[in-house]
Amino acid sequence: MTTTTRPLAIVTGASGGIGREIALALATRGYDLLLIARNASGLARTAEAAGAAGARSHCLPLDLSGPADAIRANLQAALDADGRVPAVLVNNAGFGIAGRFDRIDPAAIDGQIAVDIAALTILTRAVLPAMVAAGRGRVLNLASTAAFVPGPGLAVYYAAKAYVVSLGRALAVEMAGTGVTVTTLCPGPTRTGFAERAGMAGSRLFSGNPGLMTAGQVARIGLEATFAGRPLVVPGRANRLGAILSRLAPPQLAARMVKRLHPDQS
Ligand SMILES: NC(=O)c1ccc[n+]([C@@H]2O[C@H](COP(=O)([O-])OP(=O)(O)OC[C@H]3O[C@@H](n4cnc5c(N)ncnc54)[C@H](OP(=O)(O)O)[C@@H]3O)[C@@H](O)[C@H]2O)c1
Repeated sequence: MTTTTRPLAIVTGASGGIGREIALALATRGYDLLLIARNASGLARTAEAAGAAGARSHCLPLDLSGPADAIRANLQAALDADGRVPAVLVNNAGFGIAGRFDRIDPAAIDGQIAVDIAALTILTRAVLPAMVAAGRGRVLNLASTAAFVPGPGLAVYYAAKAYVVSLGRALAVEMAGTGVTVTTLCPGPTRTGFAERAGMAGSRLFSGNPGLMTAGQVARIGLEATFAGRPLVVPGRANRLGAILSRLAPPQLAARMVKRLHPDQS
């Protein structure tokens, strides 16, 4: 059981990229951390850097594409051992796999749905009751500007992020008046390990794109919106403009334009 006045934040996908930067920014804001991802050494590196900002971290190496019961049980065991009601949950873990839908490894599709949709939903449902009972809490979910259009060439990922936006907007309204806020962060292309994992490092979205944001910029903007209780934030002026235009375009036209960004790579 932890005896400290520091509040606890949970961050998934904290072994690198945007999740690591969010974790470090939360450490600077005075939070202790429960860090979740598969890569234990990546988590340990984040924990060490957070320690320099005064945070105590517990690393929970966990595959979020695993069974729901295992995710719930691992989270509950970590929270029981800690004893604190989490003040912040950041559902950041996520990935995409580029290619035409019928040619992508079915297991890779299952994995995207499990991590990008199911785990985010499971973890949010797991922490919200205690946050509501405490009368305070912040949930930050990572979506993407991909949420606003259909995404041929990365179809499951775009659809998954549309789910995250829809869920987040609904929960933000459901939670009104409880002291709990739900914020959805929709970055555009950001310099992390995402593009390489997706098999799209050569895509025009990433290769030679002077508008790429850094993970630190995205984390800072996401946390500012979270602590302001905003329901949704798109970081960067160009991304905000793109998000507005993509919602004005007829969906099939938008889909054909996105297809040019994601040529069939399988
Ligand atoms: N980079 C972009 O251009 C961009 C744009 C919009 C939205 N986003 C979103 O931002 C979030 C963070 O991505 P990123 O850009 O920081 O990419 P990243 O550098 O690849 O980081 C992804 C994180 O998710 C974790 N993760 C992936 N699969 C997992 C699994 N099965 N179980 C547990 N953790 C898992 C990874 O940890 P392990 O590998 O250690 O498990 C890693 O910490 C994602 O939700 C992504 O969709 C990214």
